[in-house]
Amino acid sequence: MPLSNLVPIPELYVSYESAQKLKVEAADLLSWDLTPRQICDLELLMNGGFNPLKGFLSEADYNGVVDTMRLADGTLWPMPITLDVSEKFAEQIAPGTDIALRDQEGVILAILSVTDKWSPDKHHEAEKVFGADDLAHPAVNYLHNVAGPVYLGGPITGIQQPVHYDFKARRDTPNELRALFRKMGWQKIVAFQTRNPLHRAHQELTFRAAREAQANLLIHPVVGMTKPGDVDHFTRVRCYEAVLDQYPASTTALSLLNLAMRMAGPREAVWHGLIRKNHGCTHFIVGRDHAGPGKNSQGEDFYGPYDAQELFREYESEIGLKMVDFKQMVYVQERAQYEPADEIADRDKVTILNISGTELRRRLREGLDIPEWFSFPEVVAELRRTSPPRSKQGFTVFFTGLSGSGKSTVANALMVKLMEMGGRPVTLLDGDVVRKHLSSELGFSKEHRDINIKRIGFVASEITKNGGIAICAPIAPYTATRRAVREMIEAHGAFIEVHVATPIEECEARDRKGLYKLAREGKIKEFTGISDPYEAPEHPELRIDTTGVDVDHCAHEVILKLESMGLIKG
Ligand code: PPS
Repeated sequence: MPLSNLVPIPELYVSYESAQKLKVEAADLLSWDLTPRQICDLELLMNGGFNPLKGFLSEADYNGVVDTMRLADGTLWPMPITLDVSEKFAEQIAPGTDIALRDQEGVILAILSVTDKWSPDKHHEAEKVFGADDLAHPAVNYLHNVAGPVYLGGPITGIQQPVHYDFKARRDTPNELRALFRKMGWQKIVAFQTRNPLHRAHQELTFRAAREAQANLLIHPVVGMTKPGDVDHFTRVRCYEAVLDQYPASTTALSLLNLAMRMAGPREAVWHGLIRKNHGCTHFIVGRDHAGPGKNSQGEDFYGPYDAQELFREYESEIGLKMVDFKQMVYVQERAQYEPADEIADRDKVTILNISGTELRRRLREGLDIPEWFSFPEVVAELRRTSPPRSKQGFTVFFTGLSGSGKSTVANALMVKLMEMGGRPVTLLDGDVVRKHLSSELGFSKEHRDINIKRIGFVASEITKNGGIAICAPIAPYTATRRAVREMIEAHGAFIEVHVATPIEECEARDRKGLYKLAREGKIKEFTGISDPYEAPEHPELRIDTTGVDVDHCAHEVILKLESMGLIKG
């Protein structure tokens, strides 16, 4: 009789023959194109990673999960797994409707039999699930600024798993992992969740955890969606593969998990535990600040460093997986080894070394030494390959400000100065020029402005990714949209927001295009600063006021900023 963690668990897929039939029938259904996050959620729903969920949450289950971390029947489940859609799509749906769920290329992955449709209270969801309705939390930002306003719930009929072209051999469903553990004769398995490259401290921690639990080790990194700004999963997987040799053969497995993380700290730890239990594991490592989202808008941590361990402990028997809790691992120079920070009795007499994530990024950015005690040479080489020193990376300078504030003029001067320096191609995406070529059909409603800015962001992120310099100079009046653009670009290089904060009185007095006059006369509607909002950036990298200052000086200020950030060499 196999151990209970190793018997197959239920999946939501129908047989191959039924899937072929259903696929044809589903072509006539109304269909929803899944977002990247929804594809991740759907994959884990279908393959049993989110067992016991049978589909996207119903309203009653959602309310229970949000308020008490329990489904309506009382089962522990800490994270709302919901299908958010647009108002327009929701209007066509009533409970009882079946809809086809498609991936981004239009492939039908599943059918959702809608039982529930409702408009959630997102403020309440943010408070309860993430602990604060604060946009500095990536999942709260997602909830308010990316997710649709209406949720659909109901059971899923799985047709096929989402297609992956990368690292196929390293991806395993819960049942595939269970089968692997059975084959290997592994009975106790400790899982290590990570969204970062593995360095020596992680290796030491995972070794110790496996030893402590007398278990085999599963390195189970997330390759779905992690925190904006993280090292991309392609690079990370190459790093994991490079360190796999450092683990004793046949005691350790590496498998990739297509999870969309929420960075919900304590709740997320409980969720991660349940997911790992479904993947056949018996133990789970919870370290310091598990799935932490960073600082809130007041500059404080959202959660305490060991809150996740506490919540996990509280629910440990219900999760059905043992926690291996760890404090931070640090390097003790005199003994040339890693030790848990809280177990060093002679801490006054020894030298404790540690390199934080921020410090590591700085060293990579500036091409500085990364010592061998910290990481493996193969990992460092891989990281350096994808993140060359900043002076060789692409970046985006994003000017934002009122019409007539001087954005285009300063942007032009900056472009010429950067071209004079040479080294990287420079592209100017000026507001007017973009509206002529890229966005000629758009007007100035909020919706159209957002589309316009996201297009600029898309082009700038491609330029940045390919090592060029993009200079953008639109009005870009909305904070949330600028943030979305920042996230798009920071995945590939630096984003420098320059608020051209010339007061409206000065812009109006200049009235270079005669637009303010027309706006005052009501002949131009929705004019920024007059009859339409401008949300000034709170923390731009640079703020300049062009009143009474010559263009050359303003452009020079930007150059100095770029120099101080290491983006150009002096
Ligand atoms: S936005 O909000 O970022 O999409 O606007 P943007 O594309 O930068 O606007 C480009 C130029 O459009 C002119 N214009 C207006 N601006 C604001 N509001 C209204 N209603 C409007 N209608 C036309 C204006 O000249 C903008 O150029 P700049 O360079 O900012 O003066």
